[in-house]
Amino acid sequence: MTRKPLVAGNWKMNGVASETRRLISLMKNELETLHNKVDIVICPPFTSLESAYYALGQSSTVVLGAQNLYFQAGGAYTGEISASMIKEFCSYVIIGHSERRTLLSESNDDINLKIQAALNSGLKVILCVGEDETARDNGTATVWVEKQLREGLKNIGNIANINITYEPIWAIGSGRAASGNDAQEMAFFIRKTLSSLYGKETQNTRILYGGSVKPENIDQFLQQADIDGALVGGASLQAQSFTDIVNKAAGQ
Ligand code: PGA
Repeated sequence: MTRKPLVAGNWKMNGVASETRRLISLMKNELETLHNKVDIVICPPFTSLESAYYALGQSSTVVLGAQNLYFQAGGAYTGEISASMIKEFCSYVIIGHSERRTLLSESNDDINLKIQAALNSGLKVILCVGEDETARDNGTATVWVEKQLREGLKNIGNIANINITYEPIWAIGSGRAASGNDAQEMAFFIRKTLSSLYGKETQNTRILYGGSVKPENIDQFLQQADIDGALVGGASLQAQSFTDIVNKAAGQ
């Protein structure tokens, strides 16, 4: 089974629109030469999505993702953004990032509603799961991740448009990435859990690794049988490091 790798850059809360245009103009041409071998998604803040969309151009093979959405279709929800608003500019949406789970108390039930809203609008999902340091240390990481998967995907009948990212919380922004073996072990566990829910279709599901990914360590993840790319935070804010990571993913 060959799964096309996916590399997504999660810009988090960084960059005004002019910086978005500048960063995209630095990377666009090189990234577009790689699209046959790797799917490339850039996830700027909401306020930069339109600028990013026009900076890439409508026929670009690099596509955009949002970092979140609200599950309601529209109405009196001050400050929220719906799936159809995102769909104007984006093909993907990140759901369940640990920063939102932790800082904003997003629950698996919230995440489940968001996944349903995204899929109903035709967006592809990047669902983030991953344990904290205590769970890793006391050996309950798989229990933690299994609960996130089963509750987050409850009543979701089809996994074709869902990508999973394994992002251990202790590895995010810490400079302390997981080892390739530990990431593979969890990616294998994730695929096994998904296959108990979705059967053979799961062989097509892309599972990414995220957490302190850099050009220097991406190979250790891409070499693993069950890892199909990366969700990159800090290193996606530099044109050189992001294009280096995508080049490595294209070369696998
Ligand atoms: P990082 O972030 O690469 O800066 O660790 C990854 C993420 O949170 O998606």
